[in-house]
Amino acid sequence: MDSHSPTLLKVENLSKKFLIKKSLFKKEYFKAVDSVSFSLNYNQVLGIVGESGSGKSTIGRLILKLIEKDEGKIIFEGKDVYKLSGREEKVFRKETSVIFQDPRTSLNPRYKIYQIVEEPLVVHGINKKDREKKVVKAIEDAGLDSSFLDRYPSDLSGGQRQRVAIARAIVLQPKLIIADEPTSALDVSIQLQIIKLIKKLKEEKGISFLFISHDLNVVGMLSDQILVLYRGKIMEKGDVKSILKKPLHPYTKILLESLPPNHPKEKKDLRSIPEIYREEIEGGCVFYSRCPLAKQKCKKEPEYKKIDNREVYCHFV
Ligand SMILES: Nc1ncnc2c1ncn2[C@@H]1O[C@H](COP(=O)(O)OP(=O)(O)O)[C@@H](O)[C@H]1O
Ligand SMILES: [Mg+2]
Repeated sequence: MDSHSPTLLKVENLSKKFLIKKSLFKKEYFKAVDSVSFSLNYNQVLGIVGESGSGKSTIGRLILKLIEKDEGKIIFEGKDVYKLSGREEKVFRKETSVIFQDPRTSLNPRYKIYQIVEEPLVVHGINKKDREKKVVKAIEDAGLDSSFLDRYPSDLSGGQRQRVAIARAIVLQPKLIIADEPTSALDVSIQLQIIKLIKKLKEEKGISFLFISHDLNVVGMLSDQILVLYRGKIMEKGDVKSILKKPLHPYTKILLESLPPNHPKEKKDLRSIPEIYREEIEGGCVFYSRCPLAKQKCKKEPEYKKIDNREVYCHFV
């Protein structure tokens, strides 16, 4: 490990396609993740935003090796995660964890909260006495008192259950947590509490997060860097302040315009963005069929342009 490097995770040209149709003569694939590259520093939150089906969860699952990549590299603490020795693999598993969207389905209903939070410690062979201390510490760090440990998930509210999922995710003191839509199933006020908690864990424990959400508003509240994804491709990436202040890619502009002006009730739905009916093209810009700016030259794939500290996939920037 290079202790001087600020980079915790580096993803290079990561690609994944899924088989969607198979006949005798032909196999059809869907590109879920297409040549995605980014880095995440220690003690930072990188937000991945994009509409449903854009490949966000697939990126998270690839990084955690829950599914196999097709192409590209994933480097964690200077090591290629596909070339780890058995011992290194164990360390990787210990130093990475995940929080999912729906705590109703991600927590085992037959386990008490104590067992749920304790399980990763058992898997990693931590002795019983240390386990007890760590479980209590984790549940408190997640903002619940230890009386919750004797209860079952069904006794808890949605926000409390998500705190339990967070306690379980931090109990082994990981360096990276992949949070896949962790607030999407929660009410707005509870969402804010969970966002605050994630910020606190970043600041106080130095944990880095890959924070996945379809909601640019939420991503904007806690990310240092963001990455805007459309059909498996990065449209724009850079630091959160400059992207929110001055989006450069037409898709990022549309995402920002669909945010509620000042009241959640007025929230516009991404699905209500007017579709532009233009034919799909092979080999051109992936946003061509929906882009309000598209011209002839967009039938050729744009290259990533570096502008200040940003990268943008568009002919018009
Ligand atoms: N195991 C799979 N088999 C086939 N298609 C898949 C599989 N997993 C994901 N996909 C497809 O890949 C695309 C991206 O999915 P996903 O990463 O879940 O998107 P997101 O998290 O942004 O909503 C979707 O079109 C989805 O249907
Ligand atoms: Mg998803």
